[in-house]
Amino acid sequence: MPALLHIWSSPRGGDSASVRVAEEFIKAFLAAHSGWRVDRLDLFAGQIPEFLAPQAAAKYSVMAGEEPKDAAAVAWKQIIGVIDRFKSADAYLFSVPMWNFSIPYRLKQYIDVIVQPGLTFSFDPAKGYSGLVMGKPAVLVLARGGAYSTAPAAAMDMQKTYMQTILGFIGFTDIRTIVAEPTLAGGPEAAKAAVEQASAQARQLAAEILK
Ligand SMILES: Cc1cc2nc3c(=O)[nH]c(=O)nc-3n(C[C@H](O)[C@H](O)[C@H](O)COP(=O)(O)O)c2cc1C
Repeated sequence: MPALLHIWSSPRGGDSASVRVAEEFIKAFLAAHSGWRVDRLDLFAGQIPEFLAPQAAAKYSVMAGEEPKDAAAVAWKQIIGVIDRFKSADAYLFSVPMWNFSIPYRLKQYIDVIVQPGLTFSFDPAKGYSGLVMGKPAVLVLARGGAYSTAPAAAMDMQKTYMQTILGFIGFTDIRTIVAEPTLAGGPEAAKAAVEQASAQARQLAAEILK
């Protein structure tokens, strides 16, 4: 049964704009794609390993073409488990709040764990870097307190550029981005309108994607 992996990086539960819009996407996606299931990964539930000395040692060993040893071997096995779940999905949905112009630290932690040589990217001295997660779509639902669509604020948006860049690095070419903004700076009415507009886009995309 194909799976949509919903990676969720807001700790705000039902108050989260990025999760609320993603839930609208999921409802419409399941209505339009029979036989699919949703795998929900809540990054604030604390299941993702930290990236400490053994994880770093493992990554450097693998990049040097060596087998990780001792604590690094244990860490590498755990990393492979997280990546197996990630790669087993057939489509991806990310709920991403803007935090300090970028992404929440738990999402960065997850990215640090899953972006690994030989598993999600490869390096060849002649060809350079290649992504290994290919042929599957990713949908980004980005929520921001302010508005960043136009200059000069657009230059401060490292949430969208970072997510698009890192997913491109590991192989994604089909990345759709839905923005809910402003969720704070314009007051409650503007926030409501932003979530409604983003939800309408999400429902439309969900009905069209993978068709
Ligand atoms: C730690 C933290 C940092 C934030 N930093 C920014 C920021 O740099 N720019 C901004 O426009 N909003 C910022 N916000 C507001 C959030 O982006 C906004 O509330 C958004 O809706 C959060 O997504 P969520 O509703 O899915 O949790 C921040 C919120 C938190 C909790």
